Amino acid sequence: MIEMLRYLSGFGNEQASEALPDTLPKGQNAPQRHPRGLYTEQISGTAFTAPRRENRRSWLYRIRPSAAHPAYHRVHNGLLRSTPFHEAEASPNRLRWDPLPFPDTPSDFVDTLVTIGGNGDAGMRQGIGVHVYRATKPMDRRVFYDADGELLIVPQLGRLRLGTEFGEIETAPGEVAVIPRGIKFRVALPDGTARGYVCENYGELFRLPELGAIGANGLANPRDFLTPVAAYEDREETFEVVVKFAGNLWAAEFDHSPLDVVAWHGNYAPYKYDLGRFNTLGTISFDHPDPSIFTVLTSPSEFPGTANCDFVIFPPRWLVAEHTFRPPWFHRNVMNEFMGLVYGAYDAKAEGFVPGGMSLHNCMSGHGPDAATYERASTADLKPQKIEDTLAFMFESRLPIHPTRFALETPALQRNYDACWQGLPNLFKG
Ligand SMILES: [Fe+2]
Repeated sequence: MIEMLRYLSGFGNEQASEALPDTLPKGQNAPQRHPRGLYTEQISGTAFTAPRRENRRSWLYRIRPSAAHPAYHRVHNGLLRSTPFHEAEASPNRLRWDPLPFPDTPSDFVDTLVTIGGNGDAGMRQGIGVHVYRATKPMDRRVFYDADGELLIVPQLGRLRLGTEFGEIETAPGEVAVIPRGIKFRVALPDGTARGYVCENYGELFRLPELGAIGANGLANPRDFLTPVAAYEDREETFEVVVKFAGNLWAAEFDHSPLDVVAWHGNYAPYKYDLGRFNTLGTISFDHPDPSIFTVLTSPSEFPGTANCDFVIFPPRWLVAEHTFRPPWFHRNVMNEFMGLVYGAYDAKAEGFVPGGMSLHNCMSGHGPDAATYERASTADLKPQKIEDTLAFMFESRLPIHPTRFALETPALQRNYDACWQGLPNLFKG
């Protein structure tokens, strides 16, 4: 039987959920004794004194407090890296990768996290880490949390069942899920295996972009963001809790399940979003707007309009621009672009950028349509055309993204990527 999960709707708003009735205290957060014998705990995602519109915190009512655990000990980081790292030099070269293969031995979500690149400094709370997972084994008595940043998970193959302290989320390719900093979760695999991308955001929490002249509606609408309802387990067994803290992995053995929150209220909670709900806007005359028009979520920096990270998608959409080169034009940007492809084909590349693959175009590195796409799009008969069955995305950041040694040495790196821009002829009619 397929269990349909329930969710609460909204983005960053106050929400409340109880797995058992009359569990949330009425009129206060921390009663002297909880009537169900639960412990009261606050988790804050922003400083206590952050401005009200930024402030995020939740109150949890749980069987054991999070404090009830022995010391953490260091465990191997595997292929996970945290910025700053200098194990390989960043270069002006454009990079592109084939999909990473699944591991030979059964491995879970945490085991298989591999860092492709990153920027900023996790300890300074700026920048991002870019990772890939390719899990073949569910986590059961194993739980993870990330103290270094929030995790934006972009499934590419296979569903994920995320058991979190706030309840269960199921997310599939075509959706994204966000696990805020510090929130414990484990990952089950309804389809047996799963692969996808992760943006570990060290900076300001992801939020919806301002809409400016677009108006009150459009792009990602708040009501389409879904937060789980409370669900708990009361299991007195050994659980390994793995933590990413200050760039390293640590682990401790709990004598109970940490997913034991019976009720919660607040505005700091995991959520998911169906990218098919994105209200895609674009030109209805000529040319096309900058890809910022496709921003789903943004993590701002201290510089106005200059994101620590924008999460941008290239979804199915109509192209109607007249006398216009319709694919993305050639460009060099001050911002830095990591791209992935969930499914389908991306309209600026004829081949080589395949689902599960990745590309990195750093600051001022020229890129754009390959030669085949230029030839096709510059001579096309411009009728209204729908781009269908495609979903590409971009993590765009103000700081250059340094590749890891793994990313530069893996056989998945395409050594001939530059060749896709060869063969662009001199068409000058001087
Ligand atoms: Fe680009």
